[in-house]
Amino acid sequence: MAQDNAEHPAGHPAVQAPVELLNLLDEEVGLRRGGLPAALATAYGGDLGFTEPCVYANFVVSLDGVVALGPQYPSSGSAISGGAPADRFVMGLLRAFADVVLIGAGTLRTSPGHRWTPEHVCPAASADFAQLRRRRGRTAGPELAVVTASGDVPTGHPGLNGGALFLTTKAGARLLDERLPATCTVVALGEGPVLRMADVLRAIGDRGHTMVLSEGGPRLFGHLVRDRLADELFLTLSPVVAGRAGTSRPGLVTGLELLPSRRESAELVGVRRSGSYLFLRYRLDHRGQPGSRP
Ligand SMILES: NC(=O)c1ccc[n+]([C@@H]2O[C@H](COP(=O)([O-])OP(=O)(O)OC[C@H]3O[C@@H](n4cnc5c(N)ncnc54)[C@H](OP(=O)(O)O)[C@@H]3O)[C@@H](O)[C@H]2O)c1
Repeated sequence: MAQDNAEHPAGHPAVQAPVELLNLLDEEVGLRRGGLPAALATAYGGDLGFTEPCVYANFVVSLDGVVALGPQYPSSGSAISGGAPADRFVMGLLRAFADVVLIGAGTLRTSPGHRWTPEHVCPAASADFAQLRRRRGRTAGPELAVVTASGDVPTGHPGLNGGALFLTTKAGARLLDERLPATCTVVALGEGPVLRMADVLRAIGDRGHTMVLSEGGPRLFGHLVRDRLADELFLTLSPVVAGRAGTSRPGLVTGLELLPSRRESAELVGVRRSGSYLFLRYRLDHRGQPGSRP
């Protein structure tokens, strides 16, 4: 996917012509431009940028609104997306913009072997992602941040090998401090059982991070929506029907009921297509809502 190798480190030659993975169907005029390297802009069907600071979430959802198949099925996001190259590319691109990838412990527990880096999901574009990060003055990769009240996490998970930030309760911190690799940092934010997401984001901001990509599941996203702390949502609509039969197969949000009493609306600001997959970008519309950020 790499196009010009002027900024590529030695050992990463430009080996492939740019590949167009997504077709732009519609986009709001005046969206912030990010100056994507040419190969990434070709693959994405145009430029991508953000107004910082930004908390943006990424999900893949089935036609019948399912984002997770249940705890007995590991890596259900991959099952829903079918591992589509365009979806993996968008995941990588969004990670390449992030200072931190934020997940809940539920996602860590059900994603064995995963690494929350751009190159893990789309190795073909790794040199271009690295080029983007250098242009944006970012570190080599985003930090992983994990929210857990219980502290009951698989501490040997390979996704933690490069270090991770754990945001937890006092009880969770006691459990984690004894078991985590030394490369990890534990921050206790309260007694629990539910941490305030404003405190979580403040702890992340204290580390100098302004671009927060939420790749947590419906419980974490529910907390962000409840507190009106998510600015954008990237949603891949996968052309597949997941089905439900009495088991828990949640949609985007769990643990929180909104309608009919509370209306959380969103503005569609971008639509892209790859085959029968749709890539939707929404601005979550908090204007005038109590508790919303200015
Ligand atoms: N389709 C997609 O794009 C997509 C994306 C991400 C995940 N998923 C799927 O979603 C499923 C997991 O769902 P999930 O909702 O359990 O994941 P999650 O939201 O990532 O994790 C939930 C856990 O995170 C912790 N947590 C979250 N918010 C908290 C808060 N405010 N305070 C304290 N702790 C908090 C708790 O951990 P403790 O229990 O340790 O206290 C909670 O049980 C998996 O199947 C995964 O594959 C799908």
